[in-house]
Amino acid sequence: MSLFYVKPNGPLRGTVTASGSKNAVLPIMCACLLTDEICEIYSVPPLLDVYVLKEIMESMGVWVQFDEKNEVMKIHAKRISSSDAKHTLWEKIRASFLVAGPVCARTGKVKVPFPGGCKIGSRPVDLHIKGFENMGMKIRQEFGFIEIKGRKLKGTEIYLDFPSVGATENLMMAAVLCEGATVIENAASEPEIVDLAKFLNKMGASVTGAGSTKIVIKGVESLHGAKHRVIPDRIEVGTFMAAAAVTRGDVTIKNVCFEHIRPAAAKIEESGVIVEESGKSIRINAEREVRSFDIKTLPFPGFPTDMQAIFMSILSTAKGTGMITETVFENRFMHVAELKKMGADIKTDGRTAVVEGVKKLSGAKVRATDLRAGAALIVSALAAEGDTEIGDIYHIERGYCDIDKKLMMLGAEIEKRD
Ligand code: EPZ
Repeated sequence: MSLFYVKPNGPLRGTVTASGSKNAVLPIMCACLLTDEICEIYSVPPLLDVYVLKEIMESMGVWVQFDEKNEVMKIHAKRISSSDAKHTLWEKIRASFLVAGPVCARTGKVKVPFPGGCKIGSRPVDLHIKGFENMGMKIRQEFGFIEIKGRKLKGTEIYLDFPSVGATENLMMAAVLCEGATVIENAASEPEIVDLAKFLNKMGASVTGAGSTKIVIKGVESLHGAKHRVIPDRIEVGTFMAAAAVTRGDVTIKNVCFEHIRPAAAKIEESGVIVEESGKSIRINAEREVRSFDIKTLPFPGFPTDMQAIFMSILSTAKGTGMITETVFENRFMHVAELKKMGADIKTDGRTAVVEGVKKLSGAKVRATDLRAGAALIVSALAAEGDTEIGDIYHIERGYCDIDKKLMMLGAEIEKRD
């Protein structure tokens, strides 16, 4: 199994460019299933999750061409057949379930396995299903599959118990070809939702209110092909911010939409790190002392749960004590045990972690337990005393492309070893 071998090499300095957003491109790929015309997507990051979703779509008879060098993906869902892919493929990613809404809207039925994804909680899909039933779809769950049936559905009002990102995306896509208007209340307002709505509207849909808690989708007869550039990956940007902070470096990050990273920028400025915004770039200067801060993860525009582990790495060697409350997922502290192997002083109680900053962490043999936990270990290893070996890096490669090469451009010593 591949691993990352990291040697500390002082403060990171230089410029790095963020890729397109994993959590925006995956639902947008699924939205291409809503039309029988060809769609083109730009800034598609060559990530494991993207390849898995491409394979799932191809197993449904969809034509997908991915020019990874130029990060251009063309998708043509001229016809959609039921997938012959194994469970195991669908279970690799959470986003596989985002196929359900568009395929049911397009063909009137779909049968998908329960999705997978990081083991950061039970990850149910009950809110998706409740919304589908609310729209008049018939649901059957058996043998690990969910079968959804419903044609020319009527628009309706859906109130989400929790502003679920995936449920909001799935229901938006299920509603675009309904008769009448569908209203989603208590919708998620993450930037990835806005990007999906932009793409759907380019396809001829009528989606308003994305980015707020109330989204209105007025059904249309059909959708046509469209071209779209995916927004930058705000979580990758946050990862580079944390790497600059932990190494007390001075790093410029390009391809940033500042509005999307405001919660993280505000938090890191609390620690004394300087954040300078200029157009689509930000400069992170952490050459002064980094002080502790508290975090409470919340749906957007609160502090993002996906940056919780990564910012815990900053707290591990910041001056003082920081408290983290994880309100979104019930099991998102799996990185704590690994950080403690590196000498971090962290106590957890349920969804709360108290981090006592120590002078330096020490290199150790650790492993990635999930995508963002793995990123947190890389960030911590960059400034540890001694070398660190990070195993199970396939978790990391699901959501970061060439993170080793990008960090090496900033002066890090990180090597992928098979
Ligand atoms: C998306 O997951 C992201 N993944 C996650 O990013 C991200 O952490 C999450 O949104 C929250 O921002 C993708 O976009 C592919 P949710 P999703 O539905 O849609 C509960 C990463 O690191 N819930 O907003 O699965 C759920 O259990 C990944 O890039 C239900 O109870 O997140 C969780 O506690 C990790 N029932 C909370 O809502 C449901 O039907 C948030 O889940 C759906 C969700």
